[in-house]
Amino acid sequence: MHDAPTWDPQQYLRHAGHRTRPFHDLLARIAELPRHQTPARIADLGCGPGNVTALLAERWPDAHITGYDNSPEMLKEAEFYAGPTKGGGHLDFTTADAADWAPDESYDLIVSNAALQWVPHHADSFKRWLDAVKPGGTFAFQVPGNFTSPSHALLGELCDAPQWRDRLDSHGRRFVHILQPADYLERLADLGCETDVWETTYVQLLQGDDPVLDWVKGTALRPVLTVLEDDTGAREAFLEEFRDLLRKAYPSGRHGTVFPFRRIFAVARKPEAA
Ligand SMILES: C[S@@+](CC[C@H](N)C(=O)[O-])C[C@H]1O[C@@H](n2cnc3c(N)ncnc32)[C@H](O)[C@@H]1O
Repeated sequence: MHDAPTWDPQQYLRHAGHRTRPFHDLLARIAELPRHQTPARIADLGCGPGNVTALLAERWPDAHITGYDNSPEMLKEAEFYAGPTKGGGHLDFTTADAADWAPDESYDLIVSNAALQWVPHHADSFKRWLDAVKPGGTFAFQVPGNFTSPSHALLGELCDAPQWRDRLDSHGRRFVHILQPADYLERLADLGCETDVWETTYVQLLQGDDPVLDWVKGTALRPVLTVLEDDTGAREAFLEEFRDLLRKAYPSGRHGTVFPFRRIFAVARKPEAA
């Protein structure tokens, strides 16, 4: 029994274009940092392979930015971006479990992209994390909001099917930990933040054979692939069954395969001290 899924950075990065766009949209709504002192301090929680963390260095080139993740595979990939940044700042990466991450310093910005859906009860940590945000600073995140879409519903149903239930039981639903946008807004406003929450459905056009299967192999399928990683026959059988379901749910069309993807965004600005 595996506790945390094994990540495959190369598989994840195969759809980097579509996956990076929501981060740009999140960044566009983050105000300038308070900069009570330099360098500005930024944390990226669940930083993954570091390509998105590196975008933070483009926006704040003189900041000291730390990416936190609990996947050794992802952190190894992220090391590629570690070191001094063009504007005199610094980028580093270190291991941390967001479930119990208790910052021991304060940040101008804590940001998290497409990671908190893996962290049960993450909204209960908002107070702890905001306590570590400097006055006038920001806590911002984006999570997928597509867990009732066919890609995820079918995965859950297949894991529950008689032929897989004993081995996969709840693994198909390991990632369903998000709240509705209005709940996020209330939780963050209750903590005294000026809060901006919104959702967007990206109508993504994917190319190639079985592109939705290829997409979920990088994310939602990680828990299942991790459980079956030492059993090639079972893994291939599962993938074949899932592929057939996805082909019906997301047929290939004239321009490619349309894969709508809902995402939820929240930007919470902490007031300047009175
Ligand atoms: C879908 S990837 C997103 C990576 C990156 N933020 C991006 O936008 O490309 C999710 C990341 O969250 C990390 N993650 C999941 N659970 C975590 C936890 N409890 N603590 C820290 N990182 C976690 C995974 O290891 C993975 O790198």
